[in-house]
Amino acid sequence: MSNLSAAVPPLCDLKPEARDLTACNTLGLASHASACVVIERIGQLDALSELARCHASLLILGGGSNVVLPDRVPGLVARVALRGLCRVQEREDAWIVEAAAGEAWHDVVSACIAQGWDGLENLALIPGTVGAAPVQNIGAYGVELADRLDSVQAWHIPGRRMVHMTAADCRFAYRDSVFKRAHPGEWLIVSVRLALPRPWRPVLDYPDLQRDAGLSAGAPPTARTIFDAVCRIRRAKLPDPATIGNAGSFFKNPLVDARAHDRLLARFPGLVSYVQSDGRYKLAAGWLIDQCGWKGRALGSAGVHDRQALVLVNRGGAKADDVMALARAIQRDVMSRYGVKLDPEPVVVAGQV
Ligand code: EPU
Repeated sequence: MSNLSAAVPPLCDLKPEARDLTACNTLGLASHASACVVIERIGQLDALSELARCHASLLILGGGSNVVLPDRVPGLVARVALRGLCRVQEREDAWIVEAAAGEAWHDVVSACIAQGWDGLENLALIPGTVGAAPVQNIGAYGVELADRLDSVQAWHIPGRRMVHMTAADCRFAYRDSVFKRAHPGEWLIVSVRLALPRPWRPVLDYPDLQRDAGLSAGAPPTARTIFDAVCRIRRAKLPDPATIGNAGSFFKNPLVDARAHDRLLARFPGLVSYVQSDGRYKLAAGWLIDQCGWKGRALGSAGVHDRQALVLVNRGGAKADDVMALARAIQRDVMSRYGVKLDPEPVVVAGQV
């Protein structure tokens, strides 16, 4: 574990190079950038701001687990490879752990559990990097990043300055944040401070966790047993991007008001939905897509996963257009049967014209 605050001299050695990005996105879409840089040191951020001024657009790429990349990415691409993980504070109510943006999210979860800094176990095995986690406020099995986030350090690219943001400043919502709503290329997340509550309390409300045989078998749950259960459940349902290209859930679970929900429930008694604190309902998009008969089906080289209809997969050689054609076909079917609009969860990057 290295200390993030170790002083590093500023270096201006950023030389954009052409790069094949096919291996840099978990959907495995064939994609190419004509100008790409890798950010390994905080001292390179000022040079990045300068470079960004000379390009029409800037795409910040972490683990590429939540993007649909076009064949040719326009402008400049910056891959974030900042590393480091350390405990920075031991508060009475929380361990404060700082992780650099380029660390793999799951490695940070594993390392924290190994150190006894519990609280991230429900978020195990989410693909992607630490820097991408706040952008879409990653969440799974009853916990969202927003529940465990102390603050974010982010570089404001046009303003050429480092900004410290509290969790409130990040304006987190379901799979949404100030970073996701900002103009692409405005912010580069440098590091994230996690607040892991003391004393630790298990979060076991999610139906899949309640059903897990390993967890319900007697002994009180620990962060480790929950971590293992979440890994088991995810491996059983969700395809591993190393084996088959995918970006996790391709659509967000849509939110509808109570009247629309009640109307749908009257017509479709099997509807899967969850009431929210504001009285609206979140519908299980996987169920809607499944009911339209899409599970396991394909359109050319893009397909719908056979165990989770919310996940679109690259069956080999798919390009962004193939995935988006499939996504549009699914959106049309769900709209015509249920009158519900599905919004993609990944960021869909526009191609070079
Ligand atoms: N369902 C079906 N058919 C399917 C898939 C789901 O009928 O093919 C129904 C089932 O009844 C199931 C319900 O939908 O009980 C909900 O499915 P699941 O528990 O698998 O969760 P989800 O709503 O599909 C969300 C997140 C996942 C996260 C899980 C667990 C979104 C868009 N997705 O999926 O996040 O892992 O809950 O918390 O919110 C991701 O964002 O990439 C992701 C995988």
